[in-house]
Amino acid sequence: PSLNHHWPYPALIAHRGAGKIAPENTLAAIRVGTQNGFRMMEYDVKLSRDAVPVLLHDDQLDRTSNGQGIASRLTLAELSALDFGAWHSSAYSGEPIPTLSSIAAFTLANQVHSNIEIKPTTGDEAETGRRVALAAQALWAQASLPPLLSSFSEAALEAAQQAAPTLPRALLIEEDVPADWPERLERLGCMGLNLNDRFVSQALVQAIRQKGYTVAVWTVNEAERVRELLDWGCNGIFTDKVTTIRPDTL
Ligand code: G3P
Ligand code: MG
Repeated sequence: PSLNHHWPYPALIAHRGAGKIAPENTLAAIRVGTQNGFRMMEYDVKLSRDAVPVLLHDDQLDRTSNGQGIASRLTLAELSALDFGAWHSSAYSGEPIPTLSSIAAFTLANQVHSNIEIKPTTGDEAETGRRVALAAQALWAQASLPPLLSSFSEAALEAAQQAAPTLPRALLIEEDVPADWPERLERLGCMGLNLNDRFVSQALVQAIRQKGYTVAVWTVNEAERVRELLDWGCNGIFTDKVTTIRPDTL
């Protein structure tokens, strides 16, 4: 098939909302990213016990909240009683876990685009892919650009494809890109690959772009490397450095 996927999104994407400047995957972080000129946010989404899509990176609550144990064992009401900001700094104490729905409202009101990374709790891959895709489809129905869905989990992407086939998808790869990446992208109906910077070369970027797929790279925190990757033809760059690597200074 002749593919030529177009990247309709901004080139610079704020990782987890505002990288490390504000508590990751919170509305406060997404506000900070927006205030620094970012027009696209990446954030991680999984399900609460009552199947509500919420923003959280780890399976466990311990690192980024005052809770303990596996987040998906708690309902949204139980998760909402926890503090997801104080671990970062006192300025953010009381920051709640955001629902995908509240983030959709903020990003739509502020004309900010989204990369929703589907980050299933281990064992919950297909159900998370399906629920997050259905929620995203409904929440962004009026958006100028639909959110980009991505995941390391092929099972999650497959379920997302079945549930909401028109939402764009990208496959995340943790380390070395497997040789059969074109077949994987074809099978999952993905527009491209979201790759780990440590495993990206110019030859690889050229090969992916030549086949008509997009490339986005995480997590790039040096301005010089951002420019190099864009020169090579990369479409998107995820960064933590939202106060120094700004879209208006590239
Ligand atoms: O989606 C890009 C990047 O966020 C993937 O790694 O661990 O930061 O979610 P991680
Ligand atoms: Mg992520």
